[in-house]
Amino acid sequence: MGELVFIGLGLHDEKGVTLRGLEEARGADMVFAELYTSTLAGASLESVERLVGKKIRILGRAEVEDGHTILAAAAGQRVAFLVGGDPMAATTHVDLRLRAASAGIPTRIVHGASILTAAAGVLGLQIYKFGRTTTIPFPSEGFGPTSPLEVILQNRSAGLHSLVLLDLREDGTFLLAGDAIGLLLQMAAKIGTAEIGRRMLTCALSRVGSREGLAVAGPLGELPARDLGRPPHCLVIPGSLHFLEKEALIAFAGAPRDFSEGPSRVPRGGRSART
Ligand SMILES: C[S@@+](CC[C@H](N)C(=O)[O-])C[C@H]1O[C@@H](n2cnc3c(N)ncnc32)[C@H](O)[C@@H]1O
Repeated sequence: MGELVFIGLGLHDEKGVTLRGLEEARGADMVFAELYTSTLAGASLESVERLVGKKIRILGRAEVEDGHTILAAAAGQRVAFLVGGDPMAATTHVDLRLRAASAGIPTRIVHGASILTAAAGVLGLQIYKFGRTTTIPFPSEGFGPTSPLEVILQNRSAGLHSLVLLDLREDGTFLLAGDAIGLLLQMAAKIGTAEIGRRMLTCALSRVGSREGLAVAGPLGELPARDLGRPPHCLVIPGSLHFLEKEALIAFAGAPRDFSEGPSRVPRGGRSART
């Protein structure tokens, strides 16, 4: 009888996997991984293979989405599938899990630390005050959706914070925070909203979970000039802030001391802080 175990690798490098996840991967007959929904910026395939003690086969998006390779392997053997962050957070792997279920293959999940919770934690924002998460895609000819900004506007009108993930490609290129901010301003111009402007308090995070990770809070228009270091990056647009959240943004992300409650008006300046 086979089995498919989804294992979260956590954030940043191979040391982010849980002990349970490591045991499961070491005990598997075959180990697969995907790197297109997230990545471990501080790890290489070799460093993960060394830790697990097994060869790992990387699957591309098409192979994960059609499921043939992994389900054929899991039909008669114990298969581990390694995924960055938490394997079921901001990924489409429930589809693969459902296919396994309909093929009679039992599945289990070993959860991992996720950017969905870590982003709030780094900034000191309360996780239950976040609204819908959105993702900004790479722009391309004829494709410039405004839906990410619409999600942010809906969240803000309910006083909620927005986590904004940034697209990454299978070839390992990432949308950077500065470029994503440019795209947000273009979206604002396109839908003609004055809600989102260059003075809006915005947070940018890089390499959360690593020693060189950065958290920066300041006016939207000023963040592209700040050096965030290497990707992955993401953004957080705060909604209404509790006074402890304000203190945390000042202490942990260098938000200007006198930023006003209205997130669209923030004084210039601000520092960055190590995550
Ligand atoms: C589709 S999400 C994958 C989430 C993953 N399954 C998890 O639970 O963390 C990938 C995006 O999240 C953001 N992200 C992931 N890890 C990050 C990190 N360590 N620091 C900053 N942003 C990160 C980036 O915008 C990246 O392109």
